[in-house]
Amino acid sequence: MDNTDMKQIQWFPGHMAKTRRLITSNLKLVDAVAEIVDARAPMSSRNPEMDLLTKGKPRLVILNKCDLADEKATQSWINYFKNNGAEAVAVDCKSGRGVKNILPAVKNKVLAELMEKRERNGMAGAAVRLMLVGIPNVGKSTVINRLSGAKHAKAEDRPGVTRTKQWVKLDKSTELLDMPGVLWPKFEDQDIAVRLAFTGAISDDILDIETLAAKLLSFLSDGYPDSLRMRYKVEPEKGMTGFELLEAVGKKRGMMIPGGEVNTERAAIMVIDEFRSGKLGRITLEMPQKRE
Ligand code: G4P
Repeated sequence: MDNTDMKQIQWFPGHMAKTRRLITSNLKLVDAVAEIVDARAPMSSRNPEMDLLTKGKPRLVILNKCDLADEKATQSWINYFKNNGAEAVAVDCKSGRGVKNILPAVKNKVLAELMEKRERNGMAGAAVRLMLVGIPNVGKSTVINRLSGAKHAKAEDRPGVTRTKQWVKLDKSTELLDMPGVLWPKFEDQDIAVRLAFTGAISDDILDIETLAAKLLSFLSDGYPDSLRMRYKVEPEKGMTGFELLEAVGKKRGMMIPGGEVNTERAAIMVIDEFRSGKLGRITLEMPQKRE
Protein backbone atom coordinates (compact mmCIF):
# COMPACT_ATOMS: atom_id res chain seq x y z
CA MET A 1 0.00 0.00 0.00
CA ASP A 2 1.34 3.41 -0.88
CA ASN A 3 1.16 5.62 2.18
CA THR A 4 3.13 8.61 1.04
CA ASP A 5 -0.01 10.73 1.19
CA MET A 6 -0.83 9.73 4.72
CA LYS A 7 -0.87 12.19 7.59
CA GLN A 8 1.33 11.45 10.55
CA ILE A 9 -0.81 9.81 13.18
CA GLN A 10 -0.62 11.28 16.63
CA TRP A 11 -0.03 8.98 19.47
CA PHE A 12 1.03 9.65 22.98
CA PRO A 13 3.72 7.44 24.45
CA GLY A 14 3.20 9.03 27.88
CA HIS A 15 -0.44 8.08 27.90
CA MET A 16 0.38 4.53 26.89
CA ALA A 17 3.04 4.31 29.62
CA LYS A 18 0.38 5.17 32.21
CA THR A 19 -2.03 2.57 30.87
CA ARG A 20 0.77 0.02 30.78
CA ARG A 21 1.55 0.69 34.47
CA LEU A 22 -2.13 0.40 35.39
CA ILE A 23 -2.43 -2.94 33.66
CA THR A 24 0.67 -4.48 35.17
CA SER A 25 -0.07 -3.20 38.69
CA ASN A 26 -3.65 -4.51 38.63
CA LEU A 27 -2.87 -7.84 37.04
CA LYS A 28 -2.35 -9.47 40.43
CA LEU A 29 -5.98 -8.68 41.37
CA VAL A 30 -7.46 -10.80 38.59
CA ASP A 31 -7.57 -14.44 37.55
CA ALA A 32 -7.75 -13.83 33.82
CA VAL A 33 -7.70 -11.14 31.16
CA ALA A 34 -10.45 -10.67 28.57
CA GLU A 35 -9.31 -8.71 25.55
CA ILE A 36 -11.90 -7.30 23.16
CA VAL A 37 -10.94 -6.94 19.51
CA ASP A 38 -12.87 -5.99 16.38
CA ALA A 39 -13.69 -9.19 14.47
CA ARG A 40 -13.20 -7.32 11.16
CA ALA A 41 -9.54 -6.64 12.00
CA PRO A 42 -8.61 -8.80 14.99
CA MET A 43 -4.89 -8.10 14.79
CA SER A 44 -4.95 -4.42 13.86
CA SER A 45 -7.42 -3.69 16.67
CA ARG A 46 -5.16 -5.12 19.35
CA ASN A 47 -2.59 -3.35 21.38
CA PRO A 48 0.68 -4.93 20.26
CA GLU A 49 2.04 -5.06 23.80
CA MET A 50 -0.87 -7.02 25.20
CA ASP A 51 0.75 -10.44 24.98
CA LEU A 52 3.79 -9.22 26.86
CA LEU A 53 1.86 -7.11 29.38
CA THR A 54 -0.43 -9.95 30.40
CA LYS A 55 2.11 -12.73 30.11
CA GLY A 56 1.33 -15.60 32.46
CA LYS A 57 -2.37 -14.70 32.85
CA PRO A 58 -4.95 -16.94 31.24
CA ARG A 59 -6.61 -15.04 28.41
CA LEU A 60 -9.84 -14.85 26.50
CA VAL A 61 -10.06 -12.96 23.21
CA ILE A 62 -13.55 -11.61 22.51
CA LEU A 63 -14.03 -11.05 18.77
CA ASN A 64 -16.77 -8.42 18.91
CA LYS A 65 -18.84 -7.05 16.00
CA CYS A 66 -18.85 -10.49 14.39
CA ASP A 67 -22.17 -9.49 12.76
CA LEU A 68 -20.06 -7.29 10.45
CA ALA A 69 -17.24 -9.78 9.84
CA ASP A 70 -16.90 -12.64 7.36
CA GLU A 71 -18.01 -15.78 9.22
CA LYS A 72 -15.33 -18.05 7.73
CA ALA A 73 -12.61 -15.53 8.53
CA THR A 74 -13.88 -15.23 12.10
CA GLN A 75 -13.57 -19.00 12.48
CA SER A 76 -9.98 -18.83 11.17
CA TRP A 77 -9.22 -16.14 13.74
CA ILE A 78 -10.73 -18.19 16.57
CA ASN A 79 -8.47 -21.08 15.54
CA TYR A 80 -5.51 -18.73 15.29
CA PHE A 81 -5.93 -17.40 18.83
CA LYS A 82 -6.49 -20.91 20.19
CA ASN A 83 -3.30 -22.09 18.49
CA ASN A 84 -1.50 -19.21 20.15
CA GLY A 85 -2.54 -19.99 23.69
CA ALA A 86 -5.70 -17.94 24.20
CA GLU A 87 -9.33 -19.01 24.16
CA ALA A 88 -11.48 -17.03 21.73
CA VAL A 89 -15.19 -16.42 21.27
CA ALA A 90 -17.09 -14.48 18.61
CA VAL A 91 -19.89 -12.17 19.75
CA ASP A 92 -22.25 -9.60 18.34
CA CYS A 93 -23.03 -7.24 21.15
CA LYS A 94 -25.44 -5.24 19.06
CA SER A 95 -27.91 -8.14 19.06
CA GLY A 96 -26.40 -10.01 22.00
CA ARG A 97 -25.55 -13.09 19.91
CA GLY A 98 -22.78 -15.15 21.49
CA VAL A 99 -22.62 -13.07 24.67
CA LYS A 100 -23.92 -15.99 26.73
CA ASN A 101 -20.81 -17.97 25.74
CA ILE A 102 -18.35 -15.53 27.30
CA LEU A 103 -18.57 -16.48 30.98
CA PRO A 104 -18.75 -20.26 30.38
CA ALA A 105 -15.66 -19.93 28.15
CA VAL A 106 -13.87 -18.17 31.01
CA LYS A 107 -14.89 -20.65 33.69
CA ASN A 108 -14.82 -23.92 31.74
CA LYS A 109 -11.90 -23.27 29.44
CA VAL A 110 -9.71 -20.28 30.29
CA LEU A 111 -9.79 -20.99 34.03
CA ALA A 112 -10.55 -24.73 33.96
CA GLU A 113 -7.47 -25.57 36.05
CA LEU A 114 -8.15 -22.91 38.66
CA MET A 115 -11.80 -23.92 38.94
CA GLU A 116 -10.83 -27.57 39.48
CA LYS A 117 -8.31 -26.56 42.11
CA ARG A 118 -10.89 -24.45 43.90
CA GLU A 119 -13.37 -27.33 43.76
CA ARG A 120 -10.82 -29.66 45.37
CA ASN A 121 -10.10 -27.12 48.10
CA GLY A 122 -13.74 -26.46 48.88
CA MET A 123 -13.53 -22.96 47.38
CA ALA A 124 -15.85 -23.50 44.43
CA GLY A 125 -17.95 -20.44 45.26
CA ALA A 126 -15.02 -17.98 45.29
CA ALA A 127 -15.42 -15.06 42.91
CA VAL A 128 -13.72 -15.12 39.53
CA ARG A 129 -12.08 -11.82 38.68
CA LEU A 130 -11.53 -10.67 35.14
CA MET A 131 -9.69 -7.70 33.68
CA LEU A 132 -11.26 -6.24 30.53
CA VAL A 133 -9.07 -4.45 28.03
CA GLY A 134 -9.48 -3.18 24.49
CA ILE A 135 -8.60 -0.23 22.26
CA PRO A 136 -11.27 2.50 21.97
CA ASN A 137 -14.36 1.78 19.88
CA VAL A 138 -14.07 -2.02 19.83
CA GLY A 139 -17.24 -2.15 21.93
CA LYS A 140 -15.96 -2.39 25.49
CA SER A 141 -18.91 -0.46 27.01
CA THR A 142 -21.42 -2.42 24.94
CA VAL A 143 -19.90 -5.72 26.07
CA ILE A 144 -19.99 -4.63 29.73
CA ASN A 145 -23.60 -3.55 29.43
CA ARG A 146 -24.53 -6.84 27.82
CA LEU A 147 -22.64 -8.93 30.36
CA SER A 148 -23.89 -7.09 33.42
CA GLY A 149 -27.40 -6.61 32.12
CA ALA A 150 -27.22 -2.99 33.21
CA LYS A 151 -26.52 0.30 31.55
CA HIS A 152 -23.19 1.57 32.77
CA ALA A 153 -22.11 5.08 32.10
CA LYS A 154 -19.63 5.07 29.26
CA ALA A 155 -16.23 5.36 30.79
CA GLU A 156 -14.73 8.38 29.11
CA ASP A 157 -11.01 8.90 28.97
CA ARG A 158 -10.61 12.60 28.58
CA PRO A 159 -7.64 14.75 29.41
CA GLY A 160 -8.08 16.32 32.81
CA VAL A 161 -10.66 13.77 33.94
CA THR A 162 -9.24 11.08 36.13
CA ARG A 163 -11.22 7.93 35.81
CA THR A 164 -10.63 5.30 38.41
CA LYS A 165 -10.83 1.62 37.74
CA GLN A 166 -14.22 0.14 38.40
CA TRP A 167 -15.36 -3.31 39.40
CA VAL A 168 -18.55 -4.44 37.69
CA LYS A 169 -20.46 -7.41 39.07
CA LEU A 170 -21.47 -9.72 36.21
CA ASP A 171 -23.14 -12.50 38.17
CA LYS A 172 -22.99 -13.79 41.71
CA SER A 173 -19.52 -15.21 41.26
CA THR A 174 -17.89 -13.04 38.57
CA GLU A 175 -16.46 -9.56 38.81
CA LEU A 176 -14.99 -7.58 35.99
CA LEU A 177 -12.35 -4.91 36.30
CA ASP A 178 -12.96 -2.22 33.72
CA MET A 179 -9.62 -0.53 33.27
CA PRO A 180 -9.20 3.17 32.82
CA GLY A 181 -6.69 4.55 30.35
CA VAL A 182 -6.53 4.47 26.61
CA LEU A 183 -5.03 1.42 25.10
CA TRP A 184 -3.52 2.36 21.78
CA PRO A 185 -3.46 0.17 18.73
CA LYS A 186 -0.23 -0.39 16.90
CA PHE A 187 0.33 2.68 14.78
CA GLU A 188 3.78 1.99 13.44
CA ASP A 189 2.38 -0.02 10.57
CA GLN A 190 0.35 2.23 8.30
CA ASP A 191 -1.71 -0.59 6.81
CA ILE A 192 -2.99 -1.14 10.34
CA ALA A 193 -3.94 2.53 10.66
CA VAL A 194 -5.80 2.35 7.33
CA ARG A 195 -7.80 -0.69 8.49
CA LEU A 196 -8.66 1.10 11.73
CA ALA A 197 -9.77 4.14 9.75
CA PHE A 198 -12.01 1.89 7.61
CA THR A 199 -13.74 0.59 10.73
CA GLY A 200 -13.94 4.03 12.32
CA ALA A 201 -11.80 3.06 15.31
CA ILE A 202 -9.54 6.00 14.59
CA SER A 203 -10.34 9.28 12.99
CA ASP A 204 -10.71 8.88 9.23
CA ASP A 205 -8.88 12.13 8.57
CA ILE A 206 -5.52 10.30 8.52
CA LEU A 207 -6.19 10.27 4.78
CA ASP A 208 -8.52 12.35 2.70
CA ILE A 209 -11.82 10.53 2.49
CA GLU A 210 -11.51 9.83 -1.24
CA THR A 211 -8.13 8.13 -0.82
CA LEU A 212 -9.51 6.12 2.09
CA ALA A 213 -12.56 5.00 0.10
CA ALA A 214 -10.39 4.22 -2.94
CA LYS A 215 -8.19 1.97 -0.78
CA LEU A 216 -11.26 0.23 0.61
CA LEU A 217 -12.72 -0.30 -2.88
CA SER A 218 -9.40 -1.73 -4.11
CA PHE A 219 -9.38 -4.15 -1.19
CA LEU A 220 -13.00 -5.13 -1.85
CA SER A 221 -12.45 -5.66 -5.56
CA ASP A 222 -9.69 -8.18 -4.71
CA GLY A 223 -11.25 -9.88 -1.70
CA TYR A 224 -15.00 -9.30 -1.88
CA PRO A 225 -15.89 -8.38 -5.50
CA ASP A 226 -19.49 -9.51 -4.98
CA SER A 227 -19.99 -6.74 -2.45
CA LEU A 228 -19.40 -4.20 -5.25
CA ARG A 229 -21.56 -6.07 -7.73
CA MET A 230 -24.45 -6.47 -5.36
CA ARG A 231 -24.47 -3.10 -3.64
CA TYR A 232 -23.39 -0.82 -6.48
CA LYS A 233 -23.84 -2.90 -9.65
CA VAL A 234 -20.19 -2.19 -10.38
CA GLU A 235 -18.15 -4.87 -12.09
CA PRO A 236 -14.58 -4.67 -10.76
CA GLU A 237 -12.40 -5.26 -13.78
CA LYS A 238 -8.81 -6.42 -13.54
CA GLY A 239 -6.37 -3.53 -13.19
CA MET A 240 -8.98 -0.94 -12.17
CA THR A 241 -7.61 1.48 -9.60
CA GLY A 242 -9.43 2.37 -6.39
CA PHE A 243 -10.19 5.83 -7.77
CA GLU A 244 -11.67 4.35 -10.95
CA LEU A 245 -13.86 2.13 -8.81
CA LEU A 246 -14.90 5.15 -6.73
CA GLU A 247 -15.90 7.02 -9.88
CA ALA A 248 -17.84 4.00 -11.14
CA VAL A 249 -19.69 3.73 -7.82
CA GLY A 250 -20.49 7.46 -7.77
CA LYS A 251 -21.73 7.30 -11.37
CA LYS A 252 -24.00 4.34 -10.66
CA ARG A 253 -25.45 6.28 -7.75
CA GLY A 254 -25.98 9.39 -9.85
CA MET A 255 -23.61 11.47 -7.73
CA MET A 256 -22.67 13.99 -10.39
CA ILE A 257 -21.61 17.59 -10.21
CA PRO A 258 -22.49 20.17 -12.87
CA GLY A 259 -20.12 19.64 -15.78
CA GLY A 260 -20.60 15.89 -15.81
CA GLU A 261 -17.97 14.87 -13.29
CA VAL A 262 -18.57 12.44 -10.46
CA ASN A 263 -18.80 13.89 -6.96
CA THR A 264 -16.16 11.53 -5.60
CA GLU A 265 -16.22 13.09 -2.15
CA ARG A 266 -19.91 12.28 -1.70
CA ALA A 267 -19.36 8.81 -3.12
CA ALA A 268 -16.43 8.25 -0.75
CA ILE A 269 -18.41 9.28 2.33
CA MET A 270 -21.19 6.91 1.27
CA VAL A 271 -18.85 3.96 0.65
CA ILE A 272 -17.11 4.31 4.03
CA ASP A 273 -20.42 4.76 5.79
CA GLU A 274 -21.99 1.75 4.09
CA PHE A 275 -18.98 -0.41 4.86
CA ARG A 276 -19.13 0.53 8.55
CA SER A 277 -22.81 -0.19 8.85
CA GLY A 278 -22.50 -3.58 7.15
CA LYS A 279 -24.40 -2.65 3.98
CA LEU A 280 -21.57 -4.00 1.83
CA GLY A 281 -21.88 -7.38 3.50
CA ARG A 282 -19.84 -9.18 6.11
CA ILE A 283 -16.23 -8.30 5.47
CA THR A 284 -12.98 -9.08 7.27
CA LEU A 285 -10.04 -6.84 6.51
CA GLU A 286 -7.18 -9.14 7.45
CA MET A 287 -6.51 -12.84 7.81
CA PRO A 288 -4.19 -14.61 10.24
CA GLN A 289 -0.64 -14.77 8.96
CA LYS A 290 0.42 -18.23 7.97
CA ARG A 291 3.29 -19.35 10.15
CA GLU A 292 6.50 -20.08 8.33
P1 G4P B 1 -15.81 1.34 23.45
O1 G4P B 1 -16.44 1.35 24.81
O2 G4P B 1 -14.88 0.20 23.26
O3 G4P B 1 -15.18 2.63 23.05
O4 G4P B 1 -16.97 1.07 22.37
P2 G4P B 1 -18.56 1.20 22.48
O5 G4P B 1 -19.11 0.14 23.38
O6 G4P B 1 -18.94 2.59 22.76
O7 G4P B 1 -18.97 0.80 20.98
C1 G4P B 1 -18.51 1.56 19.86
C2 G4P B 1 -19.52 1.44 18.73
O8 G4P B 1 -19.57 0.09 18.29
C3 G4P B 1 -20.94 1.81 19.11
O9 G4P B 1 -21.56 2.39 17.98
C4 G4P B 1 -21.59 0.46 19.37
O10 G4P B 1 -23.00 0.46 19.22
C5 G4P B 1 -20.93 -0.38 18.29
N1 G4P B 1 -20.91 -1.83 18.61
C6 G4P B 1 -20.50 -2.40 19.75
N2 G4P B 1 -20.60 -3.75 19.66
C7 G4P B 1 -21.08 -4.02 18.43
C8 G4P B 1 -21.38 -5.24 17.71
O11 G4P B 1 -21.19 -6.36 18.19
N3 G4P B 1 -21.82 -5.09 16.44
C9 G4P B 1 -22.00 -3.88 15.84
N4 G4P B 1 -22.46 -3.85 14.60
N5 G4P B 1 -21.73 -2.72 16.48
C10 G4P B 1 -21.28 -2.78 17.75
P3 G4P B 1 -21.75 3.94 17.82
O12 G4P B 1 -22.08 4.19 16.41
O13 G4P B 1 -20.63 4.64 18.46
O14 G4P B 1 -23.00 4.19 18.71
P4 G4P B 1 -24.48 3.59 18.56
O15 G4P B 1 -24.65 3.07 17.18
O16 G4P B 1 -24.60 2.52 19.59
O17 G4P B 1 -25.32 4.77 18.87
